[in-house]
Amino acid sequence: MSGQALLETKMLTKHFPGVVANEGINFVLEEGEVHCLFGENGAGKSTLCSCLFGYYRPDGGSIEFKGEPVKFRSPRDSIRYGIGMVHQHFVLVDEFTVLENIIVGTNTEKWSLDLEASENQLKNICDEYGIDLKFNSLVRDLSVGEQQWVEILKSLYLKVEILILDEPTAVLTPEESNKLFKIMHKMGQNGISIIFISHKISEVMLADRVSVMSKGRLIDTVFPRETTPQELTNLMIGREVKLRVIEENDNEYDRSYPILSINNLKYKNKYGKFALNDISLNLYSGEILGLAGVSGNGQKELFESLSGNLNPDSGTISYEGKEIQGRSSRVFMDLGIGLIPDDRYREGLVSDFDISENIILGWQRLNDYTKGFFLNRNNIKRLAEDLIKKFNIMTPSSTVPVSHLSGGNAQKVILARELNHSNKILLANQPTRGLDLGVIEYVYNQIKLKRDEGFAVLLASEELEDLINLCDRIAIISDGEIKGIVEAKSTSIQDIGLLMAGQSETSA
Ligand SMILES: Nc1ncnc2c1ncn2[C@@H]1O[C@H](COP(=O)(O)OP(=O)(O)O)[C@@H](O)[C@H]1O
Ligand SMILES: [Mg+2]
Repeated sequence: MSGQALLETKMLTKHFPGVVANEGINFVLEEGEVHCLFGENGAGKSTLCSCLFGYYRPDGGSIEFKGEPVKFRSPRDSIRYGIGMVHQHFVLVDEFTVLENIIVGTNTEKWSLDLEASENQLKNICDEYGIDLKFNSLVRDLSVGEQQWVEILKSLYLKVEILILDEPTAVLTPEESNKLFKIMHKMGQNGISIIFISHKISEVMLADRVSVMSKGRLIDTVFPRETTPQELTNLMIGREVKLRVIEENDNEYDRSYPILSINNLKYKNKYGKFALNDISLNLYSGEILGLAGVSGNGQKELFESLSGNLNPDSGTISYEGKEIQGRSSRVFMDLGIGLIPDDRYREGLVSDFDISENIILGWQRLNDYTKGFFLNRNNIKRLAEDLIKKFNIMTPSSTVPVSHLSGGNAQKVILARELNHSNKILLANQPTRGLDLGVIEYVYNQIKLKRDEGFAVLLASEELEDLINLCDRIAIISDGEIKGIVEAKSTSIQDIGLLMAGQSETSA
């Protein structure tokens, strides 16, 4: 770090219809520093980065590069200043190799593509930074994590001076994340300045400096070594919160007879890839079984199979010994299986329907909810009002469309519905993603209560620390395979990380 301001915003403001995404932001990136933007979902981090990259045009304020005002009308402009950005969704060409993706479109000047020279140059970069990529692999055969390495390598090849990474660790295993932080600091030593976005406190502490954002504002820029995780979290939330503590988990339950038994489940997706590759798992009443892994490794297909929304190619799902794979979702619901899907707006809710309609979604046919051929509006309203109170859903009434609710309150509507209607098994896929800390705690407490009532719970999450705190056992999924099953009490993030990376096959 040199102390020299390289890229700076002054009173930068960006509004979207009805939303102040950035308000009066004074942000300074210094030369050679690794700078973290830290904040909850919706705080305005991606918007600020998109303004710095010329992807959005600010409504007010200015951007300065080395003290000179600049106007980025598009990324083309910012790229000329040596700025690169790796987005949350990559823009690689699936049918091209790694090498082609990096070189085509970057050698725009002349079309004398000297492949060999470029390849040598790339090899040198990989050696220097310890990046491990097969240049001849097709991008479509790479994992999301590997695709991100391609993007990073491309930026290095382009000799960026500033690299912006939007939640880079979301697609990486813990081990890959560690590696990325080493590489970022190495880039810093080589004079490249880095902005990375994160909402994980452990990663924030690895930055040179951190800017905390909340509700569109930049609250403060601090040195992690001069503060504590607790202080930073308080800054982010704007009030005192208790960080989750590890509780002694002495849950006892009977592991002699699983309520749900999954055997050798296989499913090939439309690309011919095994999304589920011989998955076997047992789920017991009274336990929370965690499913650790980076999203997109088969979790979705597994949850869909277990809720009757997908018919696996082979293998069996047995409920109390009876095979039910491939039956309709109604059969699974009637067995008392509830599902919290990972995409709450596309799969869990009908946005235009109001809260009370969403509370009975899928269960309209129950006697309680019908009066002859019609819905029993009174009963439904009473139930909705009761659940709004119980689940502490912030809304003026039960007739508000769920599209008007915040993410946390929308998630509570799903939770209320599924917990109210299921009574044996709860399947929860990333139930806390994007929620505020307070709501996360609430969701976890509800899950724990159900476990204590005797539910079998399957809980998939990318937050390994949460899984360790909450679960009884944890299965590690990667590439459609279960890489191991460990006891939560006696495992660590490092152990799980190793299994996620496929380094060991021991199971407890
Ligand atoms: N293209 C857009 N159109 C409308 N609203 C947007 C758009 N991008 C972001 N927002 C809104 O701006 C706010 C900040 O979003 P964002 O910068 O993505 O936050 P973060 O990256 O911190 O999660 C949110 O309320 C979000 O819904
Ligand atoms: Mg974002």
